[in-house]
Amino acid sequence: MPVTVVVGAQWGDEGKAKVIDLLAAEHTHVIRYQGGHNAGHTVVVGTERYALQLIPSGVLYPHIIPVIGNGVVVDLPTLFKEIDTLQSRDIDCSKLKVSSQCHLIFPWHQSLDALYEQGRGDDRIGTTLKGIGPAYADKARRIGIRAGEVLDPAAFANSVKVQTVAHNSEITALGGEALDVDAIVAQFSELGARLAPYVCDTVEMLHESLDRDDALLLEGAQATFLDLDHGTYPFVTSSNPTAGGACVGTGIGPRYLDRIVGITKAYCTRVGSGPFPTELLDELGDKLVEIGREFGTVTGRRRRCGWLDLVMLRKAVRINSFTELALTKLDVLDTFDEVKVCTEYDADGQPVYAVLPGWLTDISAVSTLEGLPDKAKALVDLVEKEVGVPIRIVGTGAERHSYVVWQ
Ligand code: GDP
Ligand code: IMO
Ligand code: MG
Repeated sequence: MPVTVVVGAQWGDEGKAKVIDLLAAEHTHVIRYQGGHNAGHTVVVGTERYALQLIPSGVLYPHIIPVIGNGVVVDLPTLFKEIDTLQSRDIDCSKLKVSSQCHLIFPWHQSLDALYEQGRGDDRIGTTLKGIGPAYADKARRIGIRAGEVLDPAAFANSVKVQTVAHNSEITALGGEALDVDAIVAQFSELGARLAPYVCDTVEMLHESLDRDDALLLEGAQATFLDLDHGTYPFVTSSNPTAGGACVGTGIGPRYLDRIVGITKAYCTRVGSGPFPTELLDELGDKLVEIGREFGTVTGRRRRCGWLDLVMLRKAVRINSFTELALTKLDVLDTFDEVKVCTEYDADGQPVYAVLPGWLTDISAVSTLEGLPDKAKALVDLVEKEVGVPIRIVGTGAERHSYVVWQ
């Protein structure tokens, strides 16, 4: 019963969705296990571009059962907007399952996310303002409202009312505007009724699938260095994107995981505040932004760019037990005269670089290992050698078919 996990090895936006779309062909289910609509997962099929936030990236395949696992925090307006948009593009979402144990995001979480960020002033995290942190905080405080509650509409409406009133006191104490209790109860009663048919015990359902030898693909959002425990705290998200989080966020025990795929770009990006040792603040950074189209899928923010950091990648390998890596966006480096890769930090914590000559060749149409220029292969070899994990997929363009399978 093969279970595959896909995890970001950097600070997010590594191209996880494209790899999930690729691997989905040989799986039966794609299951999101943490995060929420702070994720922006892009799949490009021909001239069509799909930007997914909550719906698992395998949804484009008719054979895939998309599942929102118990570890995800769900924003209902976004979920249904996404379903409606996909359905209008002839993508069927009717097989979607949402765990009854998922916590829901409400407008008070978004108000508090913004107020907390304002309160931090210059130390702000640069969150996506989607209410992710406050929703997980309520989960930890054991006052959150879970998806399963919509199955009892009267009790759900009452919970929403009680929670709106309770959170209004905090919102107004922080200088925010109180939310309209009746409007929120009415809006969420309607959304709750729409959610009900999708809700189920996904833990039970996934274990029945494992018993049938179905092949499950667990989709990470965010990434290793945004992990609440292992990331660059406090500049992190409020969930555990690392491989251990895949077990917690789906109810699948660790012994089932047999393929753990780490996704890394051939360089590094980060959106939001926090440390970034190899960041490029010069025109080379601007060039990566421009060629890599490094603007956030969700917030439109410019992503900070820098060279690939193998010190971090080695740490990501340890934390996640990666069995293989996918190296994405290699094509973005096509026009660089030289490519740098950080192999260690010096005594002052400054990055030390290996400098490789650029291949100065357009690799976007390359589809075989033999077709790649030797100088591009040298970069892949260096990464494999330095981190000790095989690279199986190399990304050569945004489109679904733009990749090389390495081994
Ligand atoms: P995710 O959050 O990890 O799923 O990644 P995003 O979708 O936020 O960002 C990755 C971006 O890079 C998307 O626009 C993808 O279409 C694009 N992309 C993915 N792989 C490649 C690749 O190998 N080459 C290029 N040029 N673009 C890629
Ligand atoms: P995908 O799945 C990149 C970042 C935010 C901020 C920090 C905390 O597309 O890779 P949050 O709203 O989660 O409380 O913000 O985490 N962040 C992401 N950065 N890709 C993402 O998702 C991200 N999700 C959150 O920019 O720095
Ligand atoms: Mg993204």
